[in-house]
Amino acid sequence: MSNLKEKVILITGASRGIGAHMARAFATHGAKVVINYANNHTRAEEVLSDIRQRGETAILVKADVSKEDEVNQLFETTIKEFGRIDVLINNAGMMNTKLLKENTEADFNDHFNINVKSIFFTMKQAAIRLADNGIIINISSTATRVMFPGYSIYSATKAAVDQMTRVFAREIGRGISVNAIAPGPTTTELFLNGKSEELLTQIASLNAFGRIAAPEDITKIVLFMASDDSKWISGQIIAANGAMA
Ligand SMILES: NC(=O)c1ccc[n+]([C@@H]2O[C@H](COP(=O)([O-])OP(=O)(O)OC[C@H]3O[C@@H](n4cnc5c(N)ncnc54)[C@H](OP(=O)(O)O)[C@@H]3O)[C@@H](O)[C@H]2O)c1
Repeated sequence: MSNLKEKVILITGASRGIGAHMARAFATHGAKVVINYANNHTRAEEVLSDIRQRGETAILVKADVSKEDEVNQLFETTIKEFGRIDVLINNAGMMNTKLLKENTEADFNDHFNINVKSIFFTMKQAAIRLADNGIIINISSTATRVMFPGYSIYSATKAAVDQMTRVFAREIGRGISVNAIAPGPTTTELFLNGKSEELLTQIASLNAFGRIAAPEDITKIVLFMASDDSKWISGQIIAANGAMA
C-alpha cells in the first residue's frame, strides 16, 4: 500500500494485541508510527525495538487516553516529533465481562473512561490538529450486534463509539474521513483472558470460517482504511467478524 509511505499514524494502545500488530505493519509499509500505551512499558519497548531493528520509524508515547491533559500531550509530542498527524487510530480499550448485576459503578466508569472518554478527547484534538484530508479509525466491536451475557457495559461503550463516529464524520470537515471497524473475537489478551478451550471452540463456531480472528485479520482492513483508497468511505461502522453477526 504505497500511499501509507511517510504518513504519520498515531495508534492508541499499541503496546499489545491488535494495536501492536498494527504498529508493526504500518511501519513495514513505510509509515511513521506513534506507539501509545498506558502502563506496559516493557511490551511497548518490544514493539518499538522490533520496528527500529528493521530500520523503520516509530516513537513511543506513554499517555493514559482517558485523561484529557495526557491526550493533549500525546498530540503535542507527536507533532513535535513528526510535524503532523495524518491518521488517528483509536484502538486503546478494556473489557471485563460480568453479568450486569455484578458490575460496580467503578466497573462502569472504567469502561466508559477508557473506551469512550478516550475517543472524545482524541477526536477533540483531531478536530484541531489532524492534517487536512486525514483519516480517523475508531476500533469498535461486534459486541454491539449480539446479546452475549456479560457484555452489557462493554457493548454499551462500543455503541457509544459507533454513534460518535457517525456524527463526527459529518462534523469534522477539512476532507477528514471518520469510520469505525468492529472486530469480532480476536486472539488477544483482552479476549482470551479467562476463557476455556471449550468456550473458545464454541465461539469459533459462531462465524462462517470456524476460527477466531488473529490480529492480522483486523490489521489488513485497518491498513486499507488508513490508505487514501478508502477516502469515499466515511461515517461507517465496518464489521470485521467473518459473518458472525
Ligand atoms: N480482541 C478482541 O476480541 C476484540 C474484539 C472487538 C474489539 N476489540 C477492540 O480492539 C481494541 C484492542 O483490543 P485488544 O484485544 O488488542 O486489547 P489488549 O490486547 O488488551 O490491548 C489493549 C491495549 O490498550 C492499551 N490501553 C488500555 N487502556 C489504556 C489507556 N487508558 N490509555 C492508553 N492505552 C490503553 C493497552 O496498553 P498497556 O499495555 O499499557 O496496558 C494495550 O496496548 C480495543 O478497543 C478492543 O475493545 C477487541
